[in-house]
Amino acid sequence: MLFDLMPKRRRKDLYDFEDEMRALMDAYAGGRLVVITALRRMGKTSLLLTSLNEGKLPYVFLDARRVVGTPGVRGLAEELERGVNEFVASRSPVSVRFLELLRGVRGVDVDLARPSVSVHWGRKDRVDVATALERLDEAARGAGTRIVVALDEAQELRAAAPWLPRLLAYAYDHLEGIVLAISGSQVGVLRDFLGIDDPHGALYGRFLHEVRLRRLSREEALDFLRRGFSEVEVTPSEGVLQEAVEHFDGIIGWLAYFGWSYSRGMGDVGSILDMAARQEAEELRGFLSRSLAARRYRAILRAATRGPASWSSLKGAVEAEDGVEMDPHNFNELLQRLVKMGFLEREGNGLYVFADRVLATAAAKYL
Ligand SMILES: Nc1ncnc2c1ncn2[C@@H]1O[C@H](COP(=O)(O)OP(=O)(O)O)[C@@H](O)[C@H]1O
Ligand SMILES: [Mg+2]
Repeated sequence: MLFDLMPKRRRKDLYDFEDEMRALMDAYAGGRLVVITALRRMGKTSLLLTSLNEGKLPYVFLDARRVVGTPGVRGLAEELERGVNEFVASRSPVSVRFLELLRGVRGVDVDLARPSVSVHWGRKDRVDVATALERLDEAARGAGTRIVVALDEAQELRAAAPWLPRLLAYAYDHLEGIVLAISGSQVGVLRDFLGIDDPHGALYGRFLHEVRLRRLSREEALDFLRRGFSEVEVTPSEGVLQEAVEHFDGIIGWLAYFGWSYSRGMGDVGSILDMAARQEAEELRGFLSRSLAARRYRAILRAATRGPASWSSLKGAVEAEDGVEMDPHNFNELLQRLVKMGFLEREGNGLYVFADRVLATAAAKYL
């Protein structure tokens, strides 16, 4: 089913993305580090899960978004425990060996009978992630294979695991049984966190396969909708399809959301766009509520709702809000943060625009 709100896991549910799948398969076969980037809802998790399921390598899949709600190391330990237990439930040769090797690693209790692990996060017996990763490498190499460690939305681990990029660099340099697959929707934030572009950064200079998901073209978006609707045996008018493609902008997740909602009779294009915009507004509000500069960010975002905006006009909007002139360097930090988060984009002509139409609607109506 194309119109499904969950990430896809199987090839037959995945629309196209042939090249991206191939790139991931190549990376699993011969690479060490693959980074998948795209805005929210462009299909990263779907691509990651499908490639892992279709690929030949064993894998451990960790979803960093699940870590965010639970503060500190505890959330991370819980997600490690969940991911490792999912893996050991496969009872593959690598997972069986891994479980044996995990015995004696600090902060991990192993139950060989069930089989399962529990992971500790308390100060005294905090899980030793580095050693666990070494054991995973050993288990994979011992079985004559490699294992993919997938981290979805890895930038969400900045607070809980600031040491993570250094551990990943260590795995890249020394643990040849491990392939790292990392995704993120806050593209700039992820690159900064991993230290890919900075000569002093943790992963700087390592060769990485980069898979950047793209928007569907107008033709592809229409084709996606037509196929999805034919699966559920609904036939919207041509006008509805055109209008949907106009608003949802080639972002596959929004198209799937539209198709799902429309085929359930949940409204016309306008009201589904409005539901989508409310969700995006939540995302924006979440970001603002965690930020000390919320008022200024809001001024920038509001100004950008009026159409493509120059650097200085956005700066002017913040100054109008503050009533005083702002230091250009400080203003630029704020603006670049919004770009790195994937809210705004800088176009070729130097003007700033919302990265996604739904987001623009959200900011215009609900911010
Ligand atoms: N290639 C694809 N074919 C069909 N549906 C897709 C595809 N990629 C993503 N989707 C759908 O789009 C939505 C968002 O996908 P997801 O993988 O969660 O994106 P992301 O992880 O980038 O936020 C989901 O409803 C998913 O089913
Ligand atoms: Mg995702």
